[in-house]
Amino acid sequence: MTQDRSRPRLTTTAGAPIASNQHSETAGDRGPVLMQDYQLLEKLAHQNRERIPERVVHAKGWGAFGTFTVTQDITRYSCASIFGQVGKATPMLARFSTVAGEMGAADHERDVRGFALKFYTDEGNWDLVGNNTPVFFVRDPLKFPDFIHTQKRHPRTNLRSATAMWDFWGQVPESLHQVTILMSDRGLPQDPTFMDGFGSHTYSFWNTDGERFWVKFHFKTQQGHRHYTNAQAAEIIGHTREGYQEALFGKIDRGEFPRWKMFVQIMPELDAEKTPYDPFDLTKVWPHGDYPLIEVGEFELNRNADNYFAQIEQAAFSPSNKVRGIGYSPDKMLQARVFSYADAHRYRLGTHYEHLPVNAPKCPVHHYHKDGQMNFYGQVTGSTDAYYEPNSRGGAVEDPSFTEPPLRLAGVAARQPHRQLIDDYEQPRALHDRVLSDEERARLYRNIAAAMEGADEDVVDRVLVHFDRISPAYGAGIRAARAEKAAHRHAAE
Ligand code: NDP
Ligand code: HEM
Repeated sequence: MTQDRSRPRLTTTAGAPIASNQHSETAGDRGPVLMQDYQLLEKLAHQNRERIPERVVHAKGWGAFGTFTVTQDITRYSCASIFGQVGKATPMLARFSTVAGEMGAADHERDVRGFALKFYTDEGNWDLVGNNTPVFFVRDPLKFPDFIHTQKRHPRTNLRSATAMWDFWGQVPESLHQVTILMSDRGLPQDPTFMDGFGSHTYSFWNTDGERFWVKFHFKTQQGHRHYTNAQAAEIIGHTREGYQEALFGKIDRGEFPRWKMFVQIMPELDAEKTPYDPFDLTKVWPHGDYPLIEVGEFELNRNADNYFAQIEQAAFSPSNKVRGIGYSPDKMLQARVFSYADAHRYRLGTHYEHLPVNAPKCPVHHYHKDGQMNFYGQVTGSTDAYYEPNSRGGAVEDPSFTEPPLRLAGVAARQPHRQLIDDYEQPRALHDRVLSDEERARLYRNIAAAMEGADEDVVDRVLVHFDRISPAYGAGIRAARAEKAAHRHAAE
């Protein structure tokens, strides 16, 4: 066979040209294969290493690149360079995900959706790793692994367990705010462009005068909210398990770029002592009436990844990636996440995951970390003789102008329950009684009844007591929906 000179020449990974990629090297035309056929060995060895561990949660995801643009001046709250001037544009990456399903899970399953954003700012990467919900199931990180176990497969049956989910939720009533959102229409968006995003935690902003403000981030979809019912989703899953990938990739490919407006709620630092709810409790929102949304900017997703694995699967989002002008808060969950993500990345991707192109900052990087597996970048301090610090050989040095103002803390060190100012029922009550319409409430009851299918009765009875406490109508609605389901089942038997 002659070579087509217009096409690049196939080589081994060591660069040696390959004469045949069709036939293994054998003794005789029937084989066996020779041990010396390194080309075959290399191909098989690479195939064996094509998979990396999937994310322990949020394994199934869809992402794209885009641009964030500032539309309003918030420099009085934050000196983050991303917010420096109105009109300033910053490149970014978004990855949306479901939480519980594995990488092959169907996209249209009812679940909380991840809403992870990486802003490649000129002062380092800022990651906001949020969800499409403003609250979370638990407010203490010690409970997170247990909660996730209830969402994953039962060790013996290898099936997901309704009993485990409702058993946990029934014993951790602060979770019922998030459960209400999950079981409402917003728990099953038609595709990722039809949902809001939230930073969920309370973070902080600080300005050049050293003032700190507590902040919550909101991203409002500009496509509007659109959702499927369970029945519609089941029908879609019957046709495709990849509906979100098809929708997001397809829209961006066709030039229909989805957009979200960024808003913040701002709380002056000392207000945190006065609010009737604990502003650092991740199971609570700040009511809009108390802290209205302030517009900041808008992002648009306008570029698909060229390679899903390299740019979406290997993307590493972490709450530990923060920049000047943005800080943490006492939120216990947030504190734990600062550890957990980079640890997960070192396991999932390797020591130098931040040097993978999708994770690499688009600003100068100088540090003194050395060596390690797969170190393909050499030294990043800028001078070969300056491989330690302090040094007098021109290596990178600290810049005190980036000092964060001190965080005021008080109290004793102990294993302490979250400060309870309002009960766990008040905010889901507001959502159930005031925000949802009659039709939305009816769908909520049906979705909960469906999710309770197969759960042990004692577990259901226990959790229903909590729904009654949120609102007697809520508990009654779920019981009626369960009775209706049971009647249908009996009629069908
Ligand atoms: P508001 O009446 O000012 O706002 C209600 C909020 O609820 C809006 O953000 C609305 O989103 C959102 N919403 C509507 N339907 C659903 C749903 N099915 N699931 C989740 N959110 C939904 O209310 P308050 O600020 O006084 O809060 C009342 C309750 O609303 C809270 O207890 C909380 O449960 C819920 N909520 C509050 C948020 C907040 O940050 N304050 C954020 C989201 C929910 P949209 O405007 O996009 O329609
Ligand atoms: C992914 C831990 C709470 C949103 C992950 C991953 C871990 C993790 C280990 C996988 C990371 C990776 O391999 O790349 C935790 C812990 C939590 C917590 C320990 C609580 C203590 C939350 C909360 C939110 C959230 C409260 C949202 C507000 C996400 C998202 C992803 C993720 C969006 C996927 C990020 C991506 O697209 O790559 N979490 N999580 N998590 N988590 Fe959490």
